[in-house]
Amino acid sequence: QCNLTGWWKNDLGSKMHVSAVDSQGNFSGEYYTAVSATQKPIKPSPLIGSQHLDEDGQCTFGFTVNWKKFSDSTAVFVGQCFAGDDGKEVLQTSWLLREKVDSLPSDWKATR
Ligand SMILES: *[C@@H]1O[C@H](CO)[C@@H](O)[C@H](O)[C@H]1NC(C)=O
Ligand SMILES: *[C@@H]1O[C@H](CO)[C@@H](O)[C@H](O)[C@H]1NC(C)=O
Repeated sequence: QCNLTGWWKNDLGSKMHVSAVDSQGNFSGEYYTAVSATQKPIKPSPLIGSQHLDEDGQCTFGFTVNWKKFSDSTAVFVGQCFAGDDGKEVLQTSWLLREKVDSLPSDWKATR
């Protein structure tokens, strides 16, 4: 049974804390990224998301991170929770990061 509540760590050393997931699958939390393209000091950033509450527990979910205090960017993640062989829960995710650009002609390079 996959429970998103709690602390997660990725292979770059970024961390995420998810507060309680409510009965409809809504959740919020904070993302502590270990990597950033900006020169400013990294700060914890708020996230808000939604999880499918499925019987088998291999849930899908998505969330948005607003890199509020050090960047103009916004990121979205989608993923699925898997129960590993050793009983550890693993999240597999993909993300898109939108950076702010000064003008429409620069739009092509704004999403990573
Ligand atoms: C998920 O884990 C948290 C923290 O360990 C716990 O408080 C909560 O009751 C769990 N939720 C479910 C649905 O098991
Ligand atoms: C979950 O989020 C939806 C959409 O914002 C909202 O309508 C709903 O009331 C939330 N559920 C709970 C239990 O707060």
